[in-house]
Amino acid sequence: MATIVGAITTSHVPAIGGAIARNLRDDPYWKPLFDGFPPLHRWLAKVRPDVAVIFYNDHGLNFFLDKMPTFAVGAAPQYCNADEGWGIPTLPAVPGDQRLSWHLIERLVGEDFDITSCQEMLIDHACTIPLALLWPGSGGWPVRLVPICINTVQHPLPSAARCFKLGQAVGRAIAAYEEDMRVVVLGTGGLSHQLDGQRAGFINKSFDLEFMEKLPTDPEWATRFSVRELVELAGTQGIELLMWLAARGALSGEVVTTHSNYHIPISNTAAGLMLMESRIA
Ligand code: DHB
Ligand code: FE
Repeated sequence: MATIVGAITTSHVPAIGGAIARNLRDDPYWKPLFDGFPPLHRWLAKVRPDVAVIFYNDHGLNFFLDKMPTFAVGAAPQYCNADEGWGIPTLPAVPGDQRLSWHLIERLVGEDFDITSCQEMLIDHACTIPLALLWPGSGGWPVRLVPICINTVQHPLPSAARCFKLGQAVGRAIAAYEEDMRVVVLGTGGLSHQLDGQRAGFINKSFDLEFMEKLPTDPEWATRFSVRELVELAGTQGIELLMWLAARGALSGEVVTTHSNYHIPISNTAAGLMLMESRIA
């Protein structure tokens, strides 16, 4: 039986890749962000996940405005990164887990989610930055990847309630997988940020902190907001918090936060980090 060991949610600002490449972890600007990760390194070394199922949003590397699936699941043997123009190094390909991918696709379509299945898929900074933060300098990835992409680029976007339900369905599908394996669920993006328009630079700390506080115990709180309301509260790119809701949805039972961090500013984005675990009574 597959088991979910926990869910990690984190921001995915590309500039973090530059800081890693230039070895700036202890630089005063970056230290408060990188200091959030050693507890997660210790936790990952303890729980040793075999697979990472990652909810992320592509930013134009794999999908563009001409073809924009609402929900896409990778079913590739491996996932390559490519130059997105941020000036950061590309990372080695991450191995996939095609059997688990197709199991998730079957289950999700069986639960009436309309999924685009991708037997080739480039992964952008929304995957590679979190992987590089969680498994630093590992020179070869210790996990296989199943990427689940949620559209936050071209409106209409799926609602918060729908993304949470997608996460719940993914949690059920993993629990029903017959192979013995440990799965960590990741959700990347946010928290509040807006990169363009009149509100460029907008950050909403009080909303972010309330969102992080409610996510483990009352995720439905965030699902009551419409996409438009969430954009108002968290910024046009802050809507990436939908990934956090999907990742939280995969956890069942009593959920607790066992580690968190929040730091402003990191580039234009409030950088949040959480580890949530199920306490099964
Ligand atoms: C930034 C944040 C993002 O979420 C992203 O995808 C790209 C850039 C930023 O803060 O610079
Ligand atoms: Fe982003």
